[in-house]
Amino acid sequence: MRARHTALFLFISSLLCGMPSTAWEESLIRKESFGKTPDGPVDLYTITNAKGVELRVTNYGGIIVSLRLPDKNGSPADIVLGYDNLDGYLKNPAYFGAIVGRYANRIANGKFTVDGIEYHLAKNNGPNSLHGGLKGFDKVIWRAEPFTDQQGSGLILSFASKDGEEGYPGNLKTKVTYTLTDQNELKIDYEATTDEATPLNLTSHSYFNLSGEGNGDILKHELTLNADRFTPVDQTEIPTGDLRSVNGTPMDFTKSTLVGARINDNYEQLLIGHGYDHNFVLNRKGDGLQLAASVRDPRTGRVLEVYTTEPGVQLYTGNFLDGTITGKQSHVYNKHAALCLETQHFPDSPNHANFPSAILQPGQRYRSSTVYKFLAQ
Ligand code: GAL
Repeated sequence: MRARHTALFLFISSLLCGMPSTAWEESLIRKESFGKTPDGPVDLYTITNAKGVELRVTNYGGIIVSLRLPDKNGSPADIVLGYDNLDGYLKNPAYFGAIVGRYANRIANGKFTVDGIEYHLAKNNGPNSLHGGLKGFDKVIWRAEPFTDQQGSGLILSFASKDGEEGYPGNLKTKVTYTLTDQNELKIDYEATTDEATPLNLTSHSYFNLSGEGNGDILKHELTLNADRFTPVDQTEIPTGDLRSVNGTPMDFTKSTLVGARINDNYEQLLIGHGYDHNFVLNRKGDGLQLAASVRDPRTGRVLEVYTTEPGVQLYTGNFLDGTITGKQSHVYNKHAALCLETQHFPDSPNHANFPSAILQPGQRYRSSTVYKFLAQ
């Protein structure tokens, strides 16, 4: 295949980066063609850390294509849902692995007001706007720049979204940095600036199955969420504005609980979401990265810990996967085949004055970080 012939191995000098020689010798970034889209050619980057963990990212939608990690016996498996090739990702109705923006999650009636001006977005999810609109950040080609530094190896992705794109105001410059560290962490740093006030809420939409993608469902994964409250939603999945206590409800994951233990309970919020599809209000003290969630798969011993600077996390248990998507290696993805932990500002924040503001102003720099840390116990 042409892709193989164009494979390019990039080693970044230890002198330039100030890395100990052992680290850079083992850090490897490989670039190959991933095919063509109507907007131009795209690449696939394979990043490997010193422990043999392998991350593959394409600059189409900044999509995390695969993440191979060992289990407690050292056997590796790919723990994110996705497709074998670019064609699959060109449709990608489930947003597998993508960077989501400008506004991750829903905006009610595709409408918001900033500085007295009402803006209108495409209604691509019933009456609402979802995940940035018809051609959000998950469907654009990002400029990609591989790097290696003291923390690990990764990719800097940049995208300039024009004033008016998908109905949003302001020219927005966005930078998303993926770093794979030798401590088996995937760090995602988001930055942005704008020349007009705009709503902004960036997230990463990986579907995790710690048993391995295509290997059953996540109902027996054990989940802890560092959240005493969540934002209940109406029938169209728009927050009511309430910050409701999880206490005494099936939304309580403050202590490790099987994802599937209460998922089919006759609880209005679970019926609306067809399972968990809710924003949890994280218990935070001050700034910085703080633990949001932890997931353990008792079968393989793989553990995922999520740390973030964001105020919320969307727990989505793959409720709309219905067996109509055939993903990697002909695996059919059924309901609950994976779960997403999308760190974020709350859904529909531009229409809720009581939620933390998700408006980026000119002169400000948007900064957000999330770390997905993997262990095997
Ligand atoms: C999630 C969202 C779900 C669904 C999914 C994509 O982020 O919460 O409701 O839209 O994306 O299928």
